[in-house]
Amino acid sequence: MIRILIVYGTTYGHTGKIAEALATTFRHRGALADIVQAARGEDEIDPDAYAAVVIAASVRAGHFQQPVQEWVRANAGWLGDRPTAFVSVCLGVLQHDAKVDADIAAMMDRFCEATHWTPTTRKVVAGALLYTHYSWLTRWIMRRIAAKAHGDTDTSRDFEYTDWKDLETFADLFFDQHVAPVAKWWRSPTPAA
Ligand SMILES: Cc1cc2nc3c(=O)[nH]c(=O)nc-3n(C[C@H](O)[C@H](O)[C@H](O)COP(=O)(O)O)c2cc1C
Repeated sequence: MIRILIVYGTTYGHTGKIAEALATTFRHRGALADIVQAARGEDEIDPDAYAAVVIAASVRAGHFQQPVQEWVRANAGWLGDRPTAFVSVCLGVLQHDAKVDADIAAMMDRFCEATHWTPTTRKVVAGALLYTHYSWLTRWIMRRIAAKAHGDTDTSRDFEYTDWKDLETFADLFFDQHVAPVAKWWRSPTPAA
């Protein structure tokens, strides 16, 4: 059975939900999907076990999580040998502004340059405003940013902007276009879990 690895980084937890949603789609397609949170000192991963990899990271103050960057840089060699996807989670995409979109693309380019990794495909996904999870200072800053962008400012609750259907379509396309062709010849060295 084909096996897909999803490595993610998160600051407030939402990208973990996105990783779960991707895994659910892959499992519906008959694949095994393992989810790993990139963190320093994690267990070794067996590259041979995976036919494809998705890297998902969220943006905080213009940067992706450092542990994700370190993980990708350390594993760039074998990532280059198979289909990979880069999923960037942020709120800037909600502005539907060409300049902001270009900034997000440039941020992803910098990540790829720094890690020496060229993903097969990339996707920008809207994240969440988790006011109830933030410290008072972060809540205050995020409310100000949201107000300037005419976004949601009720700090008594959280707001989720991810288009789950669109994410599922992306995962299905990645599977059909990039994973399924590999599945024809790929055999996992490890038994199905
Ligand atoms: C302190 C803070 C800084 C953020 N900085 C950015 C940013 O620079 N650009 C952006 O598009 N989104 C930014 N966001 C939005 C996050 O990327 C979004 O909330 C995402 O869902 C966070 O995912 P996580 O819960 O997995 O960390 C920021 C959010 C917070 C709370």
